[in-house]
Amino acid sequence: MRVTIFGASGLLGKALMREWKEDQVTGLSSKDADIRDPQQIGNAVKSTRPDWIVLAAAYTDVDGCETNRELAFAVNRDGAANVARAAKQHDSRLLFLSTDYVFDGKKTGPYEVDDARSPQSVYGRSKADAEVQLEEILPGCCIVRTSWLFGTGGKCFPDTILKLASTRAEIDVVNDQLGSPTYAIDLARAIMQLCGQGARGIVHVTNRGECTWFEFARAIVNAAGLKTVIHPTTTEEFPRPAQRPKYSVLSPSSLDGYGINMPDWQDALRRYLIERNS
Ligand SMILES: NC(=O)c1ccc[n+]([C@@H]2O[C@H](COP(=O)([O-])OP(=O)(O)OC[C@H]3O[C@@H](n4cnc5c(N)ncnc54)[C@H](OP(=O)(O)O)[C@@H]3O)[C@@H](O)[C@H]2O)c1
Repeated sequence: MRVTIFGASGLLGKALMREWKEDQVTGLSSKDADIRDPQQIGNAVKSTRPDWIVLAAAYTDVDGCETNRELAFAVNRDGAANVARAAKQHDSRLLFLSTDYVFDGKKTGPYEVDDARSPQSVYGRSKADAEVQLEEILPGCCIVRTSWLFGTGGKCFPDTILKLASTRAEIDVVNDQLGSPTYAIDLARAIMQLCGQGARGIVHVTNRGECTWFEFARAIVNAAGLKTVIHPTTTEEFPRPAQRPKYSVLSPSSLDGYGINMPDWQDALRRYLIERNS
């Protein structure tokens, strides 16, 4: 099987490139092909002739999207549509990475794949719009929604906490947003299996279990054997430009249908720390 990954230089992209050994994989960054440019994307798809395209490229600075609205939609919505059109033209399957931020966070139980989209941020809107467009352009595509991604391939929450904890005795972390952390390696392995099984439609892929950012930070510090004290705080006390969903746990039932079991997030965190220290 031939696979082309857009966003190969990102956090998930690096994990995909590391894990995906069985197939013939081409990884592309924005320097190789800018997804805003249909011509560049068309050429990239034509020359690599993939059975599967994995679209992990995105403008992921959630707060930056609030001030750079045009860029957010140009990359995340229109860029995704460009890739879908190229996939259609060259008869490639497409797996698109989306996010828990397509939801408003008002639910109190896990989000199912057919729950209504109601994004509260520019980033969430740009990804939700992309999902809608992709379903129109390429009805057989696979949309993988994930959340709270972490890994060694880029900036992520555990890395930020560990860096802060090395210089500070105390850190305040919000305790009123609940979600599921997801290790890039585990997500990459699930994506490989989904492509192998010819997945279609929306699939939710996160590590098992849920926590608040405060609980996640405390687990990170404890697992790393650090003495830094983590204090719970609220979103109100720690405002950010983009609104985050209060609750964004994604139900694993769509993934169960493919027989894929994700490890729990605490186990994923232990493996991340080993990878980070190696
Ligand atoms: N991070 C999270 O917590 C999270 C949560 C839920 C969903 N997701 C989704 O998961 C996917 C992967 O996220 P990530 O955290 O791995 O992203 P990331 O680390 O920010 O990497 C983004 C990737 O996109 C590429 N890119 C950006 N603009 C591009 C453009 N105009 N044309 C082509 N490539 C472009 C970057 O290439 P360069 O290096 O060349 O700039 C980079 O490879 C994204 O779709 C994201 O929306 C992420």
